[in-house]
Amino acid sequence: MRKQLLSVLAVAALSALLAGCNKSDSAAQPPPAAGASRHYTIGMSQCNLGEPWRVQMNEDIRTAAAQHPDLTVVFKDAQNDTLKQRAHIEELVSSKVDLIIISPKEAQPLTEPVARAMDAGIPVIVLDRALLGDKFTCFIGADNKKIGKAAGQWIAKKLGGKGKVVELKGLMTSTPGQDRHTGFREGIDGTGVNVITEAEMKWLEPDARKEMESALARFDQIDLVYAHNDPGAHGAYLAAKAAGRDNILFVGIDALPQEGVAYVKQGILDATFRYPTGGAEAIDAALKILNGQPVPKKIVLGTRLFDKSNIDQGGEALP
Ligand code: FRU
Repeated sequence: MRKQLLSVLAVAALSALLAGCNKSDSAAQPPPAAGASRHYTIGMSQCNLGEPWRVQMNEDIRTAAAQHPDLTVVFKDAQNDTLKQRAHIEELVSSKVDLIIISPKEAQPLTEPVARAMDAGIPVIVLDRALLGDKFTCFIGADNKKIGKAAGQWIAKKLGGKGKVVELKGLMTSTPGQDRHTGFREGIDGTGVNVITEAEMKWLEPDARKEMESALARFDQIDLVYAHNDPGAHGAYLAAKAAGRDNILFVGIDALPQEGVAYVKQGILDATFRYPTGGAEAIDAALKILNGQPVPKKIVLGTRLFDKSNIDQGGEALP
């Protein structure tokens, strides 16, 4: 009787075991064939898609990733809201993406969520705007101080060493705003170029237009507007045009072919400096990181100047 019971139990245990095995077998991914690479999901946290430059960055990422069938990129748009961008990073961490690319709106508030992603074992590439400290895998961006300084030197030369300038600044809680400002001040240092007023237009064309309207109302003579991006320079141009002030020069930064470069061709801007999106380079670095290859902590991208003298030759690389 006892023997019978034991063998019934043994059969039941064995069939439960087999059922369990079957179940887990059918749920499990088949092991990758020898030599085959696995599939990776990258989370891309974009701070906003309001400016053409950011649409271009996502496009550059999408195009580069499309060359690699083993990559999927999930895009998040924080709509210029820092809290939303923090939540996006947390979401990407809890959904266990393989790697995060972030172009942060502001340095300080995004530093901690990125550090937590790193703690969770997810590598992070920071693109264009930097964070505080060094808890990330790799930073990719152009040298904004250098661009600001080159803009200052170009402006001093263009104005013959002296003149009255309005500076329209980007978001000063973001590193490109800070660096384009300090670089510019270095570039005009020791010249007769005076900044008669400066205002924060937060990278936004409508804000730049409003700030420029106020500057036009206060100053009879403005020789040039230096804006930290092309949307800002264009907003200032529209304000001056509406006020009938047509003897002002405009300088911006970004130099997208369809935006700043086209403005220089049309005579709307007098100069613009290329600020590469780094989208393709980010995918390049992501692949290396995912495949266990080393990447530099900082990848600095080059820049080009576009003005009337070189626009037909595709601009000129800055040394
Ligand atoms: C777009 C933008 C660009 C600028 C960059 C700086 O949001 O303002 O125009 O070059 O961000 O991070």
